Amino acid sequence: MTDPLFGRYRDAELSVLEQDAVRWLDGFYQLEHLFAAREWAIMLTDGTASEALKFAALLHDAERFFPGGPSDTPRSSFDDADYLFRHSTRSADIVGDWLAKRPEGVDLAFARRVRALILRHEIGGDPEEDIMQAADSLAFLSTFDWLVVDWVRKGHYDIAGARAKLDWMLARIRVPAALRLALPIYARTVAALEDPRGMTVDLALRRRQAGSLSYLTGLAAAVV
Ligand SMILES: [Fe+2]
Ligand SMILES: [Fe+2]
Repeated sequence: MTDPLFGRYRDAELSVLEQDAVRWLDGFYQLEHLFAAREWAIMLTDGTASEALKFAALLHDAERFFPGGPSDTPRSSFDDADYLFRHSTRSADIVGDWLAKRPEGVDLAFARRVRALILRHEIGGDPEEDIMQAADSLAFLSTFDWLVVDWVRKGHYDIAGARAKLDWMLARIRVPAALRLALPIYARTVAALEDPRGMTVDLALRRRQAGSLSYLTGLAAAVV
């Protein structure tokens, strides 16, 4: 049986800028999550997402690909503002630097809006920033069932701790339509988490697939 993840984002219709950005992030285990966030942002706006929103959704967690960032396993709660602000600011800075180095130059209003959206992706803000945050939550719940199980198997969190992350991802959603979409996905992911031995996929392979641009876009089925 073909893995539904293989080629899942073949038809994502990325702009040239977005294509370059995902090549930059190839190998990042959150690449699938980033593709999914962009897709949810498009869905939540009925296809009218701005270029800045699509791009910000595709890049919002970029900083975690580069060593030296804040720890993503805060000892306090998942809404630890210290962590969230450092994570969001570092992502916005890294993406801003990348945009500033584009040889063709970049529209300043676009870059400013991308920065604002990435800075707000964990907390929401205006209606578009709320969509960004909801898309991130939906993308977490819909793509990271394997990751929360992996956390438990590796002992980073117990089941209750990992579930707290899922609860927070659901509860922070401010867009009613997004919350309705998220509820059944949340229920599925909680069910996977509460039966961590029930997941039979090879989690190390799953992580590599989630970060492989050629796998996600259907260019090469083999992920090593
Ligand atoms: Fe994030
Ligand atoms: Fe995210």
